[in-house]
Amino acid sequence: MSTEYPLTAFSKMETPFYYYDMKLLRETLHTALHEASAYEGFHVHYAVKANFNPQILATVNECGIGADCVSGGEVKAAIEAGIPAEKIVFAGVGKTDREIAYSLDAGIFCFNVESVPEIEAIERLASERGTVAQIAIRVNPNVAAHTHANITTGLAENKFGINHEQLVDVIKKVQELKHLNLIGLHFHIGSQILVMDDFKELCNRVNDIQDMIEEEHGMVLPHINVGGGLGIDYDNPDDSPIPAFADYFATYAKYLKLRKGQQLHFELGRSLVGQCGSLIARVTYVKHGSCKRFVILDAGMNDLVRPAMYGATHKIENISSCKPCEIYDVVGPVCESSDVFSKNVELPQTERGDFIAIRSAGAYGEAMAFGYNCRALPKGFCFE
Ligand code: LLP
Repeated sequence: MSTEYPLTAFSKMETPFYYYDMKLLRETLHTALHEASAYEGFHVHYAVKANFNPQILATVNECGIGADCVSGGEVKAAIEAGIPAEKIVFAGVGKTDREIAYSLDAGIFCFNVESVPEIEAIERLASERGTVAQIAIRVNPNVAAHTHANITTGLAENKFGINHEQLVDVIKKVQELKHLNLIGLHFHIGSQILVMDDFKELCNRVNDIQDMIEEEHGMVLPHINVGGGLGIDYDNPDDSPIPAFADYFATYAKYLKLRKGQQLHFELGRSLVGQCGSLIARVTYVKHGSCKRFVILDAGMNDLVRPAMYGATHKIENISSCKPCEIYDVVGPVCESSDVFSKNVELPQTERGDFIAIRSAGAYGEAMAFGYNCRALPKGFCFE
């Protein structure tokens, strides 16, 4: 165990809760991200879906990062955290009229549009307001990312985006509409991607699509948005607290052929906030089966759904015991057999009342918590 957790403070707190290491978050955003993304015309938007805890959002805003939202609620949360509307992009396949209207009234930078009926809805609502909406068309780049099947999004059969073959017609359609200003193209190939060649492949696809648009429409769009997806090291959070930002941005700087003056936007979620968070639980019981030992936590799949939903692995530590190690299955109390955080984990001999940290839980942890079994939602606490 190398992260120093404030156990005295924890001993007075109700568990489970999310612990956020604000020093690490600031170092990640202010130093690492800021330095690595300092290329001409690069802009980072934080994918609010990863964690919408107000203090996390406020810290993101302090660092001058914009927001990538997927619902009206996220647009509102970003604005309430002080993120300027002109740095907010709004994606999602099912934007409702109410969400579109709210975002138009707020004056957001861009809608990443995903279908023709959505384009028509934005045109109608912008026209009713006598305004012009800026839009980027989300194109399906058909790049197969090396990640979990549930979190790849760039393949042709996904529900997201507009297929490459339909792009020419969709651009023609948009050009006929008076209340839409087509300012860019949007892409996203998936999440938790550690293979830089996947991003290189996206660059090549974007280059081809840009060539095609120039040929067919004689047009260069001022903005390209390549989405997010940079992964984190779930196995060794202490060895790699900061994700591979330098390699990631260098890949785009090297392989994406930006046209003159073109701006490049990124929507990073997990890599910005993943490593600063841990789910902290107490051990409720240690149960000895006939051939297994179970550590039963007071946190369950409703607090952190990633292991049950994606088979994701998070490093698990007993942060209050230094005894010799034993092998346990670490499980939650929820009435589902998938409520298992990890099997055959080596932990120091564990007892009722011990504190367990489930690491790398800052992204898609608190944000995805739910209330199944009438369980209270976990709170998030920021520690300096
Ligand atoms: N942009 C778009 C269009 C996205 O769909 C996503 C994530 C992002 C940006 C941010 O991706 P990131 O940089 O965080 O990889 N709940 C899953 C991940 C779902 C990702 C959904 N889209 C998980 O816990 O692994």
